[in-house]
Amino acid sequence: PPVETMLGIEELQEAAKTCMTPGAIDYYAAGALDSYSVVNNRESFRKCRLVPRVLRDVSAVRPQTKIFGVDSALPIYVSPSSNALLGHPDGELNITRGASATGIVQGISAVASYSLADILNEKDQMDEASGRKMGMVYQVYFQRDRSKTEAQVRQAVEGGVNALVLTVDSNVGDNRQSTEKLKGSRFSAEPGPRMGPITETPTFHDPSLNWDDIVWLQSLAQGLPIYLKGVCHIDDVRRARDMGLAGCILSNHGGRQLDQRVTRILMRIEKLTDPQLLKDFEVYIDGGIRRGSDVLKAVALGARGVGLGRPFLFAQAAYGDKGVIRAVRILENEIVSAMRLLGLTSIDQVDPTMIECLQEMWK
Ligand code: FNR
Repeated sequence: PPVETMLGIEELQEAAKTCMTPGAIDYYAAGALDSYSVVNNRESFRKCRLVPRVLRDVSAVRPQTKIFGVDSALPIYVSPSSNALLGHPDGELNITRGASATGIVQGISAVASYSLADILNEKDQMDEASGRKMGMVYQVYFQRDRSKTEAQVRQAVEGGVNALVLTVDSNVGDNRQSTEKLKGSRFSAEPGPRMGPITETPTFHDPSLNWDDIVWLQSLAQGLPIYLKGVCHIDDVRRARDMGLAGCILSNHGGRQLDQRVTRILMRIEKLTDPQLLKDFEVYIDGGIRRGSDVLKAVALGARGVGLGRPFLFAQAAYGDKGVIRAVRILENEIVSAMRLLGLTSIDQVDPTMIECLQEMWK
C-alpha cells in the first residue's frame, strides 16, 4: 500500500513485515527469553493516563526541543539500532535522509550495517542540500580490543557528531531464543545482507567494562557530551551525573538484553523528577514508544525526550527514507494533537501533575 495510507506506527511496522524475510523480522522484533520486557514496555505506557488542562489558548503549538544538546523538531530521536540493511538495501542511509528531512536526531549504532564513513558522507550531502546541519550521535560499544573502540570514537568525534552514547547494558551478548533457533539459516539462506561487525561473536563485547573505563572515554571525547544508555537504577544515574556525564537514557534495550528487567520504567523517571538531580542533567527514555501520547507521558514524568528503535527500522524496511519521514510525520501529528488536547503550547509546559499512573505501577 502507498506510504501515505499508513496512519499509525504499528500499521507501518505490520506493512514492513509483509516485505521482509522471517529471519529479518525476527531479528528486528525479538526480545530476550520470554519477551516479558518487550510486552511490558508497551504495557507500562498504557498504565499511565494523562490529565489535561483546559481553557488555554492552543492555537499555536511548538513541539520543538533540544535533544542531546541539538535543536530537534520534536521530543523524539532515532535510537541507535544495528543492521538496518537487513530491512532495506539503503539501510542506515534511509534513516539519515529521513532524519535530515524532518529535523530529528539520528543515533548511529556501533554495529550499523553501513560504515560510519558512509553515514557521515550521507549526512554531509544532506546538510549541504538542506542548508542546515542535522543532529547525529554515535553509539559506542566497548570492544575487547580497545584499539578498535578508540579508532571508532576518534572517527566519530572528528566526523563531527554532536554527542557520544555509551551503551552499558550489553557488555555481554544477548539471549534471544527465537534468534538462536534461526541462527545459521537466518542470514545465510536469505539474500546476503551486509552485516555490521555483528555483536553475536563471542569476543566482541568486553564484560570487564566498568566505571573506570568512562574516564578513558571522556579523554577521547574531546569535550563532546557523553550519555549512558541502558541505565535503570537511580544510584547509577546519580553516579553518571557525579562523573560529569551529560545524561542517561533509561532503557531496557527494547527488551532484548536482560528479560524481566524493570519495565515499570516510567516509575524510574518519576523518582528522577527530583529537581536537584535533573538540574543540568538530561534523562531520556526508550522502549515501547509508539504513539504521540506515549511521548508526552514520558516527558511529563521528567524525560527530556524519547528514543524509538524498531519503528524506524521497520519504516525504512517498508518504504526506505519515505517510510522514515512518514513515521516522523505520524508521530508529529499525534504529538501536536495530544499537546492541544492537553492544553500545552510548548513541551516544557507539561509536568508530573498531568499524569496519573495506575496503582499497580508503583508496587
Ligand atoms: C537495538 N538496540 C540497540 N541499542 C544499542 O545501543 N546499540 C545497538 O546496536 C542496538 N541494536 C538494536 C537492534 C535492534 C534490531 C533493535 C530492535 C534494537 C536498542 C535500541 O536502541 C532501543 O533501545 C530499543 O529498540 C527501544 O525500544 P523500541 O523502540 O524498539 O521498542
